[in-house]
Amino acid sequence: MFKIGVIAGDGVGPEVVQEGVETLKLVAQLEGFEVEWKHFDLGGERYLRTGEVLPAEDKEGLKQCDAILLGAVGTPLVPPGVLERGLLLDLRFSFRQAINLRPIKLYPGVDTPLKDATPEKIDMVVIRENNEDLYVGVGGFTHKGTPDEVAIQSSVNTRKGVDKCLHYAFELARKRAAERPFAGLTESEKAAGKRGRVTLVAKTNVLTFAHDLWQRAYNEMAVNYPEIATDYNHVDACCMHMIRVPQRYDVIVTTNMFGDIITDLGAVLQGGLGVAGSGNINPDKAFPSMFEPVHGSAPDIAGKGIANPIATCLTIGMMLDHLGKPHAADLVRKGVAQVLAEAKVKTPDLGGTDSTRTVGEAVRSAISKL
Ligand code: NAD
Ligand code: IPM
Ligand code: MN
Repeated sequence: MFKIGVIAGDGVGPEVVQEGVETLKLVAQLEGFEVEWKHFDLGGERYLRTGEVLPAEDKEGLKQCDAILLGAVGTPLVPPGVLERGLLLDLRFSFRQAINLRPIKLYPGVDTPLKDATPEKIDMVVIRENNEDLYVGVGGFTHKGTPDEVAIQSSVNTRKGVDKCLHYAFELARKRAAERPFAGLTESEKAAGKRGRVTLVAKTNVLTFAHDLWQRAYNEMAVNYPEIATDYNHVDACCMHMIRVPQRYDVIVTTNMFGDIITDLGAVLQGGLGVAGSGNINPDKAFPSMFEPVHGSAPDIAGKGIANPIATCLTIGMMLDHLGKPHAADLVRKGVAQVLAEAKVKTPDLGGTDSTRTVGEAVRSAISKL
């Protein structure tokens, strides 16, 4: 029995979450485990109605869950940051979800804007540090609103936080190497017996304090994984290489801010935000982890029933892996893969005309026949 907290949130959040929930219900039934659902009324509507963003009672309720599914938060009716910071970041920080796990994988049948790309060439995972950096909110204003105004927002980087991400990244590369041993490798690295790669993405040429810490910690962690190929890219060059030679990447480890940016770029490589899932992982399992599609509330298409639910379904797969149900997770991924490969039903972002519900049902129908 798993207790799953659900924050449907704003915009397309409730539309895609409904498909995620139905899909999880189906695999739970097929695999013979039970799910207790706890729905939390959080997001823009609650805030506009009551002024509350994340009351202590709701936070305590979420803390009691085994995992959390979040749709998206943020609406043009609420000033930027109120919900994003007050709800989403508060949960990521309070529940010590130090790792933001963001796979970038092109499924067969999905169009990518890259001319010569194939599914073999686009298969990487970004480990985005999730609790530190510019996101912490260290800073402030002086003389706000005057010509002498100064605004400061500092990047926080702790050796413990960085080590946690690096450890997760190298362990993941080792695990992935069991199935894709030569991911990201050059011929000479293969010949040297390397298996898998972890690329550090930072800006050591400018952020000579913060990213010096990252580079030293990375070098020390790599010593424990002699079989894994190492690499370093400045973040600007990484954006270029992700387009030019995506096959060069296996596992990328990076800071919170850079990880946010490069994973939207990565989402496009795999077919868009409609197919990009993610997990905010508490690696110690001391608090619940939280799973969400990479995309936001998509106000431009909200209420139309055309948001792509695939990202949320893949997110459910990641949640099942985390809960120790890898077979159930595989069922979800296989169902999604089949719907994408057949390409008979598609939401408009993938070039189709079908609804969120139709695609969700197609995934479930594919799972039922596996
Ligand atoms: P967005 O991801 O909401 O939308 C960007 C573009 O992608 C839009 O054109 C949208 O229509 C499209 N898109 C997104 N998801 C889609 C889906 N499932 N199917 C088809 N198309 C999809 O990003 P934004 O417009 O920058 O942000 C909108 C709001 O969402 C803001 O308030 C922002 O703060 C918030 N946001 C929240 C989260 C989150 O809760 N995890 C993440 C990102 C942005
Ligand atoms: C994401 C989003 C969030 C982030 C925002 C909404 C706080 O863009 O999950 O990628 O910056 O992490
Ligand atoms: Mn983002």
